[in-house]
Amino acid sequence: MRVLVGGGTGFIGTALTQLLKARGHEVTLISRKPGPDRITWDDLTTSGLPRCDAAVNLAGENILNPLRRWNAAFQKEVLSSRLETTQTLARAIAKAPQPPQAWVLVTGVAYYQPSLTAEYDEDSPGGDFDFFSNLVTKWEAAARLPGDSTRQVVVRSGVVLGRGGGAIGHMLLPFRLGLGGPIGSGHQFFPWIHIRDLAGILAHALETSHVQGILNGVAPASSTTNAEFARALGTALGRPAFIPLPTAVVQAVFGQERAVMLLEGQKVVPRRTLAAGYQYSFPELGAALKEVIA
Ligand SMILES: NC(=O)c1ccc[n+]([C@@H]2O[C@H](COP(=O)([O-])OP(=O)(O)OC[C@H]3O[C@@H](n4cnc5c(N)ncnc54)[C@H](OP(=O)(O)O)[C@@H]3O)[C@@H](O)[C@H]2O)c1
Repeated sequence: MRVLVGGGTGFIGTALTQLLKARGHEVTLISRKPGPDRITWDDLTTSGLPRCDAAVNLAGENILNPLRRWNAAFQKEVLSSRLETTQTLARAIAKAPQPPQAWVLVTGVAYYQPSLTAEYDEDSPGGDFDFFSNLVTKWEAAARLPGDSTRQVVVRSGVVLGRGGGAIGHMLLPFRLGLGGPIGSGHQFFPWIHIRDLAGILAHALETSHVQGILNGVAPASSTTNAEFARALGTALGRPAFIPLPTAVVQAVFGQERAVMLLEGQKVVPRRTLAAGYQYSFPELGAALKEVIA
């Protein structure tokens, strides 16, 4: 297949591109910057969809950048980088004389309301209680195509664990120094997925003609709490990991609204992902972390 990947220059996009190429597909990226094997978002708007069999969107300003203050300007960037790119791609797909077979969007498990007791699958309600859940609702709506000539899939991803980026990129140094530990109470669920599995689910969704609708992009070991995650990372590194990061510090750095992403969590099960026939490479946290820190 020829696959067009919006935001494919990033952390998940790099892993997805590698996997797709290894499986014999061709990849063209959509980026803000021109370059080889790329088009820009402006090219897409002016020239329409290039010939392709499938499209994916991964573009989005990094929400948990600790160097950015959580103010109106940054919130606008977080929203528009997701909604405008998704809408631009969806419009180009809808207008294409030969529409692609598949269109896949990655959003997040922030759709589901944080809870210490509830368990969410793809059919669970959500998407209407805070900034991030509303963002996911608008993001998924921006992707919707009229008609059914293209198969549509949305993968709601948990925290992606992989080398050289994502949340774990920020955590490794303190944990290696033995200064790691749970965030806040540590009781909150920590829905995670190894990057190879997220890329694998995306490739499975692109290649498998019966897959459509929402898929949760989380590991099947869904009941991991933040404290268990911290312990497992400490064990994988051979370091103690019992120094908690206090709630007040997280709120001061990230702002109260954004801090919820770290201080609270959801128990999410990938019921439809498993039913769609996806087989996980890293279903267990210990093995996933060993691979990431190796
Ligand atoms: N990583 C995770 O744990 C995780 C979890 C759940 C959901 N997600 C979602 O999955 C998607 C990909 O995540 P990722 O970790 O791979 O992200 P990433 O590496 O931070 O960024 C992906 C790409 O988005 C583009 N981008 C960044 N800021 C932008 C802006 N202001 N306007 C337009 N494009 C912009 C960049 O491409 P160019 O510079 O080439 O334009 C970048 O390479 C994001 O939408 C993210 O919200 C990620």
